[in-house]
Amino acid sequence: MTKVAIVYHSGYGHTAVLADKIAEGVRDAGQTPVLLKIDNAAQDFAPVIEQITEADAVVFGAPTYMGDVSGVFKVFADATAGAFFTGAWKDKLAAGFTNSHSFSGDKGHALESLTILAAQHGMNWVNLGLAPPGVTAAERGPDTINRVGSFIGLAAQSDNASPEISPPAGDRETARLFGVRIAQAAVRWSRGAQPALSEAA
Ligand SMILES: Cc1cc2nc3c(=O)[nH]c(=O)nc-3n(C[C@H](O)[C@H](O)[C@H](O)COP(=O)(O)O)c2cc1C
Repeated sequence: MTKVAIVYHSGYGHTAVLADKIAEGVRDAGQTPVLLKIDNAAQDFAPVIEQITEADAVVFGAPTYMGDVSGVFKVFADATAGAFFTGAWKDKLAAGFTNSHSFSGDKGHALESLTILAAQHGMNWVNLGLAPPGVTAAERGPDTINRVGSFIGLAAQSDNASPEISPPAGDRETARLFGVRIAQAAVRWSRGAQPALSEAA
């Protein structure tokens, strides 16, 4: 079974909703999600890092705070320097998601940070792969897929409301479909990881 680690921070529970839906999508694709929540900057990251090392693909997720990934997630990212030096995550698949209050809110910058984290580890990035809706307001309603029109990764928008109702249905379904896509990509990628191929480098 292909393992997809979903490592994320969520200060108030909205980004966590997306993590759960990505996990659902991984299960829908017949694979195994491993949800790894970063709780605080002072925690021991070693168990999280170990589980990522065991996974076939990793989805990084953080809310956008002050136009970038949350500080807690950034502390975790810095703690992965050991895996960087040993090349432990090289050639795994990676993907990313974020969530914020504004439609833009500079979510693109947070996704770029996640992309760079993956690139520094030599990971291969899987983008969202879901077309944005049309241009009229009705077409961009809360039930639509990829309603904020992100391509590099999953971007969701949450109001100042309970995570039970926000982010809305369209963002949740976008996250589920993203989970399916990553799991399917990981299965394909794992099939090609034969010793002859990896030793050829
Ligand atoms: C410290 C802080 C900074 C924030 N900065 C941004 C921002 O730059 N752009 C934005 O659209 N929303 C911003 N927000 C709003 C959050 O992104 C939004 O409330 C999000 O749903 C929180 O996700 P969470 O519940 O997973 O923590 C900020 C919130 C906090 C607490």
